[in-house]
Order: sequence, then C-alpha cells, then structure tokens
Amino acid sequence: MDSTALPSQNAGMAGYRELLDATISHLEGLQESGERLIEVDRLTLAGLMTKAVRLKPGADKAPVLAPKTTPGERQPAAAAVPRSLPSGAAARWNRAVAGSGPANRIPGPAVSSSVTPGPAGAPAPKRDPAAKEAAMNDLRRRAAECIRCPHLASSRRSVVVGVGDVNARLLFVGEAPGADEDRQGEPFVGAAGELLTRILVAMNLSRDQVFIANVLKCRPDTPGQSHGNRKPTPGEMATCLPWLQEQIEILQPEVMVALGATAVEGLLGRPMSITRLRGQWQDHRGIPLMPTYHPAYLLRSQSPADKRRVWEDMLAVMERLAMPISERQRGFFLPKP
Ligand code: URA
Ligand code: URA
Repeated sequence: MDSTALPSQNAGMAGYRELLDATISHLEGLQESGERLIEVDRLTLAGLMTKAVRLKPGADKAPVLAPKTTPGERQPAAAAVPRSLPSGAAARWNRAVAGSGPANRIPGPAVSSSVTPGPAGAPAPKRDPAAKEAAMNDLRRRAAECIRCPHLASSRRSVVVGVGDVNARLLFVGEAPGADEDRQGEPFVGAAGELLTRILVAMNLSRDQVFIANVLKCRPDTPGQSHGNRKPTPGEMATCLPWLQEQIEILQPEVMVALGATAVEGLLGRPMSITRLRGQWQDHRGIPLMPTYHPAYLLRSQSPADKRRVWEDMLAVMERLAMPISERQRGFFLPKP
C-alpha cells in the first residue's frame, strides 16, 4: 500500500470513504486471489488507524476501522449475561451455591481514606478510593483509543478494560475478550463468564465485589472466520501488558487469581504448565497470585476432579483474604461418599 494514497487532512469525509472503499475492495481482490499477507509500513498503518479513531461513532460508516463502543457505553451486566449454559457445569455450580446466602463485602481492613507515605522499597501506599476511581476512569479513556495493535484496533468493537470495584481486595485476570465480551464491552459475560460468576457466588462474592480484567483488552482477531477465538500471541500480550500493569498499580489488590495458562503466561512473563502451577501461590510484583484453570477449560473438561481443584484454589484465596468459610463450602465438589 502506498502512503501517498492517504487522504490529506482537509479531504472531505466522502473522499475518505471513497478511498477506504477502494482500499477494501483492492484487499478483497488480493484475498480472493489467495493472498494472505500484505506489507504495510508502520507509518501508513499508524496514519490509517489515527484517522479511523478520530471518526465520530455513527458520523460515518467505516465498520472495519472505527471502534463502535467504548467501555463507558457498555450495557448493564445483568442484561449482558446469557441465560443458557452447557448443562452439567451450570447444574453443579448451582447445586453448590444453593443456600450459600447473600453476598457480603469481603471482610477485612478497609482501604485507608488517605495516602500514607511508605518507606522507599515498601509496597506502594494505599490510594484514596475516589482517586482510584478517577485513575481507572482516566485509564479507560486512554485505553479506548489505543492503537498499539493496529490489527486488533481495526477489528474490535470494544476495548474491554475491566469491571468491578476499584477498591476490591481480589483481582481476577483472564486471557482476552471473546466475541460476547467484544460486543458488550465487559469481560467474562459469555458462557465462561457465567461460570466465573457462579464460582464467585460460591465464594459468597458477587461480580461487583471483585475486579475482573484480562491480559488482552481487545479481542484477538480471527480474519476470515465468522466465529471462534484464538489465543493472544506473545507479541500482543507484551504490547498490551502495560495496561494491566497500570490497572494493578491502581487497584493494589491484596490477592490476584490468574485464570488459565495464558493469563499466567501474561502475568509471569513466560509460558508455564498450568496443570503443574495451579494451586501454588506465585508472586507478581509483591502481590500473591493464585494460578487456576480457566472456566472455559472447566466447561470443556466437565471433570468433577478439575472443578474440585479450582474450588480448592478458591478456598486458598479465601483463606489468604481471611474470609469466613463454612463447612458446607469446604465440601463443595468432593466426591459423594
Ligand atoms: N475468557 C477470558 O479469558 N476473558 C474473558 O473476558 C472472556 C472469556
Ligand atoms: N489447560 C489450559 O490451557 N488452561 C486451563 O485452564 C487448564 C488446562
């Protein structure tokens, strides 16, 4: 692609659209003739993306480039969670959580309402809750315009930053938004998300008492496919990680849970065997990190033993947070005698 073909700053929207249409049809022609990769220099790509994110949503139809929603515009979570689940898993989690009572705030020390300076090298001082909120909102605004991965910026509908209480003690980190999350702008709202919600309820928690985020904020694109997900590449994870790191600095969670092998890889910086690592406390920049299986894996495996393993990991998290645990909770997912 030739960068001289870009519209000039004062070219009208019609001219821009004409060029865009011509570019798309040229690319489609190449694709039909079997081309899978084209070379575009960084400057050209950056120029295209900059133009695209400047478009006002709805002011012009440039569906392949313009982000359609921002996290601020997302639908309420209640409406977003699908009602259906693959049968076995839902039923078991349902049974486990029946009678577990209303969710309570995670007990424990409240976040101090002022910033207390700490000695050099000590953990960062606790932030004011309102300051955390403001910092996260600022991050959301900046992330909504991120084009560090131009291919993802051009295919996404939302930048899925995260959801929950910025003052939560517990942070869950997943892999990347899927199609449902991309559409709704909220992490873990599809089938895996519904299972995560049930796991939280079994812990006597709700989604708004924890914070939920992903290593990748954009859905990994699946060119030429109408559905399906793919694992983020190491390059995508490295590029996106500063967003999650900044979130962790804002949230200052007491405990983190990494959901699945990819989240562990993103957080610890190298590929690891989740089957070997799960259940064993790790350290992420001074914050205890519990690796466990991804809920999507549980939905696929349908293995009672794996569910018990995840549940034991969550019991360890609850103990670490000094949350009350009932005898009934301790027995969830044990084989029937
Ligand atoms: N799987 C993830 O890892 N994250 C989501 O947000 C949804 C599904
Ligand atoms: N294998 C994975 O890749 N992820 C899991 O969560 C469990 C097994």
